[in-house]
Amino acid sequence: MRCVRVREGEGLEKLSVETCDDPGQPGAGEIRVRIHANSLNFHDFAVCSGRMQADDGRIPMSDGAGIVEAVGEGVSEFAKGDAVLSVFFPDWQKDRATATGFGRTPGDGIDGFAREVVVAPATHFTRQPKGWSHEESATLPTAALTAWRALVVEGGLKPGDTVLTMGTGGVSIFALQMAKAMGATVVATSSSKEKLDRLREMGASELINYKEDEDWGHTVTKLTGGRGADVVVEIGGAGTLPNSINAVAIGGRIVMIGVLTGASGEVPTAALSGKQATVHGVTVGSRQHQIEMIEGLEATGIKPIVDRTFDLADLKAAFEYEKSGQHFGKICTSF
Ligand SMILES: NC(=O)c1ccc[n+]([C@@H]2O[C@H](COP(=O)([O-])OP(=O)(O)OC[C@H]3O[C@@H](n4cnc5c(N)ncnc54)[C@H](OP(=O)(O)O)[C@@H]3O)[C@@H](O)[C@H]2O)c1
Repeated sequence: MRCVRVREGEGLEKLSVETCDDPGQPGAGEIRVRIHANSLNFHDFAVCSGRMQADDGRIPMSDGAGIVEAVGEGVSEFAKGDAVLSVFFPDWQKDRATATGFGRTPGDGIDGFAREVVVAPATHFTRQPKGWSHEESATLPTAALTAWRALVVEGGLKPGDTVLTMGTGGVSIFALQMAKAMGATVVATSSSKEKLDRLREMGASELINYKEDEDWGHTVTKLTGGRGADVVVEIGGAGTLPNSINAVAIGGRIVMIGVLTGASGEVPTAALSGKQATVHGVTVGSRQHQIEMIEGLEATGIKPIVDRTFDLADLKAAFEYEKSGQHFGKICTSF
């Protein structure tokens, strides 16, 4: 069967399309899944390009969607032919977070889904949303679940609230769609006029070009009549946090998700305490969160924005496209 592995090399040259051994039949509690799609995340890019260290031969990609080909003894949740979806933290099934780091995350600490067949415990998967394609479903385990966790689980979003989203990548576009479906107003930023136009078409009420407006945090406050954003979906990290503090409403919530501008930096602590705002760090979510999100997506009718789909053999080209920043929403593989 085909797979992709991370080998020695510079940058994305590390990606090697290879033939892997078939994993065989599932044991007790396991399922055998024919994987048909992945979606690309910034985290996968970091693993595949060497920004994050991976073991030699690691099979990348955290998100995988496919069809159950066989079930092992004792598996009652899934049957042959079911459409299933991977989870980001296989050991975090429900309740409070048990995971720090990526030591047990597919495509990082353990092998991921850039391969045609996987045999793993049934608890490492959930069902897909009904009627979705494998590509659409593969957008969910990392990006969508992070947006869901930011808004629904930790953000405490209510109809009438204002949400600030940043840029037009996977997490932010899901956050915009979910926030709109929940009756919130969305202020969105991007670096490009064309993308800002698309954000308006998707329902963002106020738009800011963060490249042209360096003080965009205060602009958010002005555009919201002095109130600011009740929830900030913070994907930038160190370089954007000061603006996010200026953008957040008094008593609002900044959900720290991303590191696009750096992993650490100075925090204007006086401004933060002046805002009486909460900063809440999140890393994706549990399997139970994913099950609840899938029900929520089915109820709202939200469908992912899949920008482009590549064959598994073209994974390097797919990441080069992500790196170029041309995408709007998610990039997928299909195989
Ligand atoms: N904590 C978690 O659980 C978690 C989960 C998923 C992702 N993340 C992190 O969240 C971040 C985004 O991930 P992703 O997968 O959504 O990435 P992605 O799909 O590659 O999106 C990147 C987009 O972010 C925007 N961007 C880049 N620099 C920006 C800046 N300085 N200010 C505002 N927007 C900026 C750009 O949008 P425009 O082209 O519109 O400017 C770019 O297209 C990454 O740091 C990733 O590691 C964290």
